[in-house]
Amino acid sequence: ETVPLEMHKVRVVQKLTLAPIEERLKAIAAAGNNTFLLQNRDIFMDMLTDSGVNAMSDRQMAAMMVADDSYAGSATYEKFAAKLVELFGMDFILPTHQGRACENILSQVLVKPGTIVPMNYHFTTTKAHIVLNGGTVEEIPHDRGLEVTSTHPFKGDMDIAKLEALVATHGAQKIAFVRMEAGTNLIGGQPISLANLREIRAACDRHGMIFVLDASLLADNLWFNKTREESCKDLSIAEITRQIADLCDVIYFSARKLGCARGGAICIRSEALYRKMRVLVPLYEGFLTYGGMSVREIEALTVGLEETMDVDMISQGPLFIDYMVRELDKRGVPVITPPGGLGCHIDVMRFLPHIPQAQYPAGALASALFIASGIRGMERGSLSEQRNPDGTEVYSNMELLRLAMPRRVFTLSQVKYAIDRIDWLYQNRDLVGGLVFVEEPEILRFFYGRLDPV
Ligand code: F0G
Repeated sequence: ETVPLEMHKVRVVQKLTLAPIEERLKAIAAAGNNTFLLQNRDIFMDMLTDSGVNAMSDRQMAAMMVADDSYAGSATYEKFAAKLVELFGMDFILPTHQGRACENILSQVLVKPGTIVPMNYHFTTTKAHIVLNGGTVEEIPHDRGLEVTSTHPFKGDMDIAKLEALVATHGAQKIAFVRMEAGTNLIGGQPISLANLREIRAACDRHGMIFVLDASLLADNLWFNKTREESCKDLSIAEITRQIADLCDVIYFSARKLGCARGGAICIRSEALYRKMRVLVPLYEGFLTYGGMSVREIEALTVGLEETMDVDMISQGPLFIDYMVRELDKRGVPVITPPGGLGCHIDVMRFLPHIPQAQYPAGALASALFIASGIRGMERGSLSEQRNPDGTEVYSNMELLRLAMPRRVFTLSQVKYAIDRIDWLYQNRDLVGGLVFVEEPEILRFFYGRLDPV
């Protein structure tokens, strides 16, 4: 029986409150049963996301004090770009204010109406930008990726046969680019293997296609490469990173999950492609040496990227998640297995089988868990999908309640509290009913839509 051990100590703390259940009930009603609309003061454990809420290190805080503040040509930016060139071995870097900004630029440059973007799985903002530019997303994970319970170590891998079939049907010229997402977010933070990336590189070489990696969740993925993939066992994290990067044409990331509270970047191998994307940075982000980030954030991010090469740093999230998943599984609570990165994912189709997908079971469970515990999770199911142009619902493959694990933020006793409350809710799951929209935004509706109990 392994229990995770923190390889850090806590030197700055923030007070939490646990409001009585009556107040939690009022708060979730005021939020239209949408956890995105809750106020932080009403929340005990915020497990909405790991985006922009991870703990910073003493070295990151210190780095922020020595930032070289200037609009253009700051030494801080030089350091940042040099770190990325060192880690990924790509010569051309573009800074952005966050991940979706990279997706905007990539999509505007590479996606033309009628083109296709094959990927292991979509992320909400990625798909929105591709569709906005007239493209179509084709998700081609291995079938095992969509099996909620499994022992397969790399459920995020792409099915190469499906990629070849797409190329055969549409022709390579219709493929805008091939996208892989490390730590595949919407299927439970499931990792991708280096072996699979090699196969994709070979396919891209065969057909002359551009290979793009979304590295927002790369930190977790690197831990899984190191611990689950035989060929990576004796490599350092930096060596695994470079092996992955060497297979890609473009790597972009949201820095909100990878080393800082904000920011992002696009790393590009080809100068011609870089020049096409570069013109959009001053238009949407800011000048080329800050891209919408403050220089203090760029300093912290540079240190954060460096610390991502430390096994003790990147293991914390996956080990805590592993503990939470195993403890819930032991109690019979349906969870996504094997444990992945990002957070613990509850399989709501099995948790609340009495609620049809049309009544957003994962959203209903997010709301119920907040009432029962003061814990805020995030719906990752049909509510997070976008309706078809004819207004019909798109039902997601999985109905998940994601309980994200911000890195080095929670103690193990807080995680045990979460396990206890989820277990209680599972024993009392008949109390939970479905939801119906009373206010439904057209794009990314999950962010600020409002719902009532059915
Ligand atoms: N790609 C992946 C894989 C992500 O997980 C995210 C964000 C983005 C791109 C977009 O980056 O937020 O900086 O614009 N995921 C957050 C989450 C929002 O909570 O899962 P962003």
